[in-house]
Amino acid sequence: MIAPQMKINKAVFPVAGMGTRFLPATKAQPKEMLTIVDKPLIQYAVEEAYEAGIRQMIFVNGRSKRAIEDHFDTAYELEAELEAAGKNELLELVHTIKPHDMECIYIRQAKAFGLGHAVLCAQSVVVNEPFAVLLADDLMVGSPPVLKQMVERFADWQASIIAVQEVPEEHTSRYGIVAGTPVNDRMMDVTQIVEKPKPENAPSRLGVAGRYILTPGVFREIANQPRGVGGEIQLTDGIAGLMRREKVFALRYEGRRYDCGSKEGFLEANVELALAHPKLGPGFRDYLKTLTL
Ligand code: UTP
Repeated sequence: MIAPQMKINKAVFPVAGMGTRFLPATKAQPKEMLTIVDKPLIQYAVEEAYEAGIRQMIFVNGRSKRAIEDHFDTAYELEAELEAAGKNELLELVHTIKPHDMECIYIRQAKAFGLGHAVLCAQSVVVNEPFAVLLADDLMVGSPPVLKQMVERFADWQASIIAVQEVPEEHTSRYGIVAGTPVNDRMMDVTQIVEKPKPENAPSRLGVAGRYILTPGVFREIANQPRGVGGEIQLTDGIAGLMRREKVFALRYEGRRYDCGSKEGFLEANVELALAHPKLGPGFRDYLKTLTL
């Protein structure tokens, strides 16, 4: 009997990192609550997962967890105030943050042992299904949305898929870097994945962006990993283990990534998304023209 086609129903959002590159802003709030124009990073990522057909959102929280839980919860007082004031458009905006058919589940990562460990914390909820992982500090702008591009490929390939993009040679030490054999114009059968290699050791210039579709076999591989680069349990090492047992593909997605875990990427995202904003864009463009740079 042919195994039934698996669908991606669950997304894991690791949001327990320390966000030290963004201090002092991240002292008392997760970096995923930083806003691009008017929306927190985590909401962009949740919307991307929702548009990819996913309805179960699993947040792996750390300290200062309340802000994210509150954001996706009902805000009775605010909603009552908006309703009383007849501010229906704003009320609608607040309601769209968590559509009725979306479920939010929160798990605690007691200590920030690394991204691999954060993903492993979600095992008891994900159990035995393929699932998506979204790092909300990587803001992805794509049409169709980047995770949707990946879910569509998963429907055909039924195997783990990692989002990748070409990165400058001098930046390889900021990324997981993959190498492999092309299977079509955008997909590659991954044969090697290395965490943050120096340019001279990098097997390619294809850097992993913060979107993954993983089969549940990755949990066992992460659990078997010793501490990797920086003393952390690395997701990259778990994926390298998975590759010894299963096919893992990389997708050169169509779209733009903003590294909002860095101040430069965060500022670029704010400027570019403000310029593209239907209401704010024209006025903001005029304002920028007045600046003498
Ligand atoms: P980063 O590598 O960007 O680490 O994590 P960080 O600690 O948040 O940031 P810096 O380097 O100190 O500024 C990538 C993603 O993994 C999550 C982060 O929240 C982010 O979404 N993460 C990382 C965890 O959930 N737990 C961890 O132990 C580490």
